[in-house]
Amino acid sequence: MTFSFSFILLTLVLLILSPPSTPSPGWSCLSECVCGQGGQVNCSGGELHFVPRILDPRVQVLLLGHNHIDFLSPGAFALLPRLLSLELQSNGLQRVHVQAFWGLGVLQSLDLSANALQALEPGTFRPLRALHTLSLAGNRLMRLEPMWLGPLPLLQNLSLQDNLLSSMGSGVLDRLPALHELNLQGNPWICDCTILSLCHWLRSHAHQILGAESLMCVSPDQQILKPLAALTEASFNYCALPLTPWDLGIITMLGPLSFLASLAACFIFGSLLTAFRVRRKNRHYPVKRPIPQTVALGDPPENPTTNFPAPACFL
Ligand SMILES: *[C@@H]1O[C@H](CO)[C@@H](O)[C@H](O)[C@H]1NC(C)=O
Ligand SMILES: *[C@@H]1O[C@H](CO)[C@@H](O)[C@H](O)[C@H]1NC(C)=O
Repeated sequence: MTFSFSFILLTLVLLILSPPSTPSPGWSCLSECVCGQGGQVNCSGGELHFVPRILDPRVQVLLLGHNHIDFLSPGAFALLPRLLSLELQSNGLQRVHVQAFWGLGVLQSLDLSANALQALEPGTFRPLRALHTLSLAGNRLMRLEPMWLGPLPLLQNLSLQDNLLSSMGSGVLDRLPALHELNLQGNPWICDCTILSLCHWLRSHAHQILGAESLMCVSPDQQILKPLAALTEASFNYCALPLTPWDLGIITMLGPLSFLASLAACFIFGSLLTAFRVRRKNRHYPVKRPIPQTVALGDPPENPTTNFPAPACFL
């Protein structure tokens, strides 16, 4: 009797003293991950090849860095509507499906750094209307299209350092109206006409660029190692403005018109020349001009220039 009483007491004491098995009771945490306070799920540094299926909609922070996730499938995070921060750095990520970020309407921070992304599908980031911070640093992006990133109306902090960017079209930064910290260091900028709009942007937003003075041209020859910020308007004087439809129309018409004009000029010039020669001849030999009576119709005339004026241009 005393034995069983003390056993029950001991069990009760142990139950009261022992910490709960997971830090936040009620979480269905995956074995690969550590689920912590504040809705944080830490699955970083594991052996994951896919985004794990986490079903708890209370997750706010998901750490998936340093795994082997090379592809983000459609709706990979669709069951996490309250996610605020997502880390996917150092995964060897090569492809992001255009619908991968569906449902992440409140996400504020996305880290895709140190991966192997070469391109993004237009509209990939469109669902991320609340995004403040985006890192694409340390990927293999060679260019950026306006539709790849934006519109991201609240994006403040964009990291693009250590990619292979050689130019950036004007539309890219125009679609990020809230941007006030941009890192573009460690890219091989080609300072030809395609860099013009980026240089404009740099000049008007110099204080928002991290290390703006360290952005260097790697080409063409005359610009090598010149800082982008030092390129003036005059450096781009040779760059033509884009052609308008009116310009194109004029260029198209120029060919046929110039042909007709040269034809007319030849005709007028030939006629004038002939008229001048006839007048001169008539003045020098006004009466003695023999008129061949017996010449057959097909025979060549005695003096072709007087009878058959051939414009000089056609000879
Ligand atoms: C997440 O887990 C990794 C490995 O278990 C650890 O190194 C890291 O500090 C954790 N991060 C946080 C924010 O708890
Ligand atoms: C901007 O983001 C980078 C990395 O994503 C971070 O290191 C930096 O501290 C952020 N800047 C601000 C002002 O939050």
